[in-house]
Amino acid sequence: MNTKNPAAANGARPSLGAQLLRRKPIGQMVSEAGSSESGTPLVRSFGVLQLTMISVGATLGTGILVILGESVPLAGPAIWISFVIAGLAALLSAVSYAEMAGLVPVAGSSYSYSYATMGEGMAWICGWCLVLEYAVSVAAVAVGAGQYVNETLAAFGQFLPDAVSQPPGDGGVVNVPAMIIVILAMVLLVRGARESAWINTAIVVIKVGILLFFCAVAFTAFNAGNFEPLLPMGAAGVSAAASSVFFSYIGFDAASTAGEEAKNPKRDLPRAIMLSMVIVTSIYVLVAVAAIGARPWGWFDGTEAALVQILHEITGQPWIALVFSIGAVLAIASIVLTVLYGQTRIMLSMSRDGMMPKVFGRISRRTGTPVAGTLIVGVGVALAAGLVPLGALADATSIGTLFAFALVNVAVIYLRRNRPDLERSFRVPLYPITPILGTLMCAYLMINLGADTWITFGVWMLVGIAIYFGYGRRNSKVAALSEQDYRELTTRAVSPEPVKAANS
Ligand code: ALA
Repeated sequence: MNTKNPAAANGARPSLGAQLLRRKPIGQMVSEAGSSESGTPLVRSFGVLQLTMISVGATLGTGILVILGESVPLAGPAIWISFVIAGLAALLSAVSYAEMAGLVPVAGSSYSYSYATMGEGMAWICGWCLVLEYAVSVAAVAVGAGQYVNETLAAFGQFLPDAVSQPPGDGGVVNVPAMIIVILAMVLLVRGARESAWINTAIVVIKVGILLFFCAVAFTAFNAGNFEPLLPMGAAGVSAAASSVFFSYIGFDAASTAGEEAKNPKRDLPRAIMLSMVIVTSIYVLVAVAAIGARPWGWFDGTEAALVQILHEITGQPWIALVFSIGAVLAIASIVLTVLYGQTRIMLSMSRDGMMPKVFGRISRRTGTPVAGTLIVGVGVALAAGLVPLGALADATSIGTLFAFALVNVAVIYLRRNRPDLERSFRVPLYPITPILGTLMCAYLMINLGADTWITFGVWMLVGIAIYFGYGRRNSKVAALSEQDYRELTTRAVSPEPVKAANS
């Protein structure tokens, strides 16, 4: 049987309808794990610590550093409850990710889970949504980091002119700091996944450190009276703030793109996803309580970089604010690093299936990383970050992300019904209530997003569908399987462990 070359299919290709519904056999997915276009496998080097740090690295950043301050006027002192609500919404999908990542520990994350359960059409749509969640959002996040670089320079009385710190359309020519951050992340990723993971771990320690430091300082000025009245904007205000702070939880799924570089993915991926959720939710609630305790909620209205201001006002030391700002730039840079990493691994999975060009699936023998794919994704993201005003597209990332999350919840339900025989290293608690609630919650948050965001999303999906018909439909390897091979693979039992990489 030849699953590599579509031209080798020994029968007619399936009709469009049949192709869109063709699922990738889970057994095939698991046995392909670690393989690549160039024959060199990915290197299995991550333990539970690095995997957790990948998810925390991709999650903790702009949401708590910037969006917290902006959302206090919406909810009042109850902003911490908004973080709990958004965290619960994220948790419902996180447990589904944990079950799927333990069951199908490959690099494609929700793209692969959709391919295994809902067929090629939905998998492509999911993969295209993931480009929004990863590549587009990382470009937007890099722009945010660039702004923090400017604020940090301002502390030295320096500033970058708009021409080199804003994209065209926003009064500049090119956003150099944003491009530099993406290029640095790309160079690190090309050098090696293990090195990148260790640098990410170091940065995560720093970012957790600066946030805990903030809490320690803010608690010295704690005033319980700031929490009264708790709900000046009512329950509606708390729920509106929950929608906007949901952004701060995006990224917990990043560990699920490391399935082929984990030493023991079935055991460690679910643990890493759950652990990262516990870490970020605890930090978010703690920081929110500390910030409100330090300043009355009305103070946040119109205050920029609220956390830095609080530190500066309490300590009276500009250098403390400066150190915090440098930590914040690093914090955001680690999101760029880990999310860029995730995008290259998703592309690798899609390329392996014939959904993306082969170049994304080639792994360098020297570094054990997809060098060419990383360079293409990195340069593309750097150009987008430097030259494109991303506002509208960045808003659409939430819809794309929520859609991918919803599909993972559906995938859990599908496989529990259709493949109850498969070994699961983590099981969603309270099944089927949890994944049903998770799906509904994602749908609810999607509906709440504005009409403009939906229009942008619609245009993005039309572009994706055009690319599918121009490339994926013709090159799909699953579609190239003969009916007989396809049926045989679909019914084959799944091997309990993914094929081990040579060096594991
Ligand atoms: N969760 C990420 C952040 O807050 C995207 O920046």
